[in-house]
Amino acid sequence: MPTPHNNARKGDIAQTVIMPGDPLRARFIAENYLENPVCYNEVRGMYGYTGTYKGKRISVQGSGMGMPSMGIYSWELFNEYGVNNIIRTGTAGAVADSVNLRDIIIAMSASTNSAYASQYNLPGTYAPTASWELLSTAVKTTENTGVNFHVGNIFSSDTFYDDADSLSKWHKMGVLGIEMETAALYMNAARTGKNALCILTVSDCPLRNLSTTAEERQSGFRDMMEIALETAIKI
Ligand code: HPA
Repeated sequence: MPTPHNNARKGDIAQTVIMPGDPLRARFIAENYLENPVCYNEVRGMYGYTGTYKGKRISVQGSGMGMPSMGIYSWELFNEYGVNNIIRTGTAGAVADSVNLRDIIIAMSASTNSAYASQYNLPGTYAPTASWELLSTAVKTTENTGVNFHVGNIFSSDTFYDDADSLSKWHKMGVLGIEMETAALYMNAARTGKNALCILTVSDCPLRNLSTTAEERQSGFRDMMEIALETAIKI
């Protein structure tokens, strides 16, 4: 059955979904990497496509920005459409000194200032974590590309424009980068017993006031997409 946010019917979506934040990037991936892509959703412009990559059925869909949006779409994919694996492909700001523009970050875990975990009424602090199978497969895949990459903890923030300027405190804790969706994705995967991973390209360095050009973002995006697709067909 379609949901209020997704027109797809059961069976329209593959077991593995690649999720960029931007729905236009989802369309770009479908049109440039998938064979025979079929669009299954246009509700709110949140494009979703299913096709094949090197013969394996794969879907690609936007998540939107922020944890509420990622929370809705990934919950529906896992619970309503039988999806087993979600690989987020996004951009991040560098936080750790060792992380540079255009590097790739593979998020082993996602710290957060979001209240998303409060719905579970846990008697402590939950640690949102990637699926080991997806993580180890993506790391092996990335090692073969020659791309500069880092694996570790990221920070999923509820704010892009942050009045409290808290980034230096996360920097102190060894966080690699900042983005806005992964903690919710990892919690939804944990709650439903499914698998999730986040792969990021570094588009800016907020602590060092640096950012990439549109052209650099496009080529970094291609490296990340190829890593995500190659990971998707190995699992
Ligand atoms: N903050 C939050 N999300 C981001 C950033 C950032 O600096 N860069 C890319 N995504």
